[in-house]
Amino acid sequence: MAPSVADLPENTETAPLTVPVKTAPETTDKKPKVRRVIEEEGGQTTASYPNYLPVWDHGEKYPPLEPFVHVDHGKDADPSFKDLLPEGSKIQKLAPTIGSEVTGVQLSKLSKAGKDQLALLVAQRKVVVFRDQDLADLPIQEALDFGGYFGRHHIHPTSGAPEGYPEIHLVHRYGDKSEIDAFFADRNSSVGWHSDVTYEQQPPGTTFLYILDTPEVGGDTAFVDQVEAYNRLSPAIKERLHGLKAVHSGFEQAEFSKKRGGVVRREPVKNEHPLVRTHPVTGEKALFVNGGFTRSIVGLKKEESDSLLGFLLNHVGRGIDYQVRVRWAPKTVVVWDNRITAHSAILDWKTGERRHLARITPQAERPYETPYVPEQTSAQA
Ligand SMILES: [Fe+2]
Repeated sequence: MAPSVADLPENTETAPLTVPVKTAPETTDKKPKVRRVIEEEGGQTTASYPNYLPVWDHGEKYPPLEPFVHVDHGKDADPSFKDLLPEGSKIQKLAPTIGSEVTGVQLSKLSKAGKDQLALLVAQRKVVVFRDQDLADLPIQEALDFGGYFGRHHIHPTSGAPEGYPEIHLVHRYGDKSEIDAFFADRNSSVGWHSDVTYEQQPPGTTFLYILDTPEVGGDTAFVDQVEAYNRLSPAIKERLHGLKAVHSGFEQAEFSKKRGGVVRREPVKNEHPLVRTHPVTGEKALFVNGGFTRSIVGLKKEESDSLLGFLLNHVGRGIDYQVRVRWAPKTVVVWDNRITAHSAILDWKTGERRHLARITPQAERPYETPYVPEQTSAQA
């Protein structure tokens, strides 16, 4: 069966934040118009970056997103990476097909050429981990200006954001035993593979996630290579998938937020995207389905759609031989290409250590696929 929203763990990077709900003041029976975590912590916050604590403004509403022309800077990049990875920097692969780790580079100081090369490197390696970054220490607007080079900022419909900066998506957990026990009360696993906000007509491309507070051990993020997931399929299945589209829906996420008293800042949408998408820079084809938002395959009957989608999602989810797991450390920034990967947060600590991250989410092109080309067999080569 294809997963439903009920299977979507709350701690996925797209899900609404879970924070203890304080008892409502006696004087009011209405929800507060603006909810601020810093106030709920009584002004005694231990957060390393209080300016990034989430705020939900119930009065904040946005119109539907308009189409825009995305220019992918990876297309203009010098493949020698000389401006991104100068002498003295170091890059090493974390897994053969996905993930690299870089030290000795300060992202916020990159030139235009360096940023173009970053887009290309992330397209090629899918996930790139940068250590010792100053992104979290900059004024929030400067971090946004940096990320805005890579595409139009996405404003998340339901997540908390730093006050005045709705373009920042926040992930925040206290990680105490009662919170974690409540999470696992009705599920066995926190694994929830998804790509971010794929219900949008133009879902994100080059995407940034930076750590603000992290448990010493635990709370890693896992990424799966959807290009390799596609490559592993037989020619017969690949050929069948081409031309098919799937429905990606944001309605369940909005409903989930409403039920919990959260915000819905923009009315939810559904969009149809190809099951196989082509990357505009590398030309690689990737399986473009995810358990978070892909609901059904267009033109198939329910059992057929559930069966095929279920197979594809299981295939992606069990692909530990094309995954990478990132361990966070203070000042780490992870950049991934949301078009060709899925990811899952991992909820495996209950020490009460805060896990707090900020995401900058530039949108990219509308997903498209190039024609299916039969593969040459070794006998033909
Ligand atoms: Fe996410």
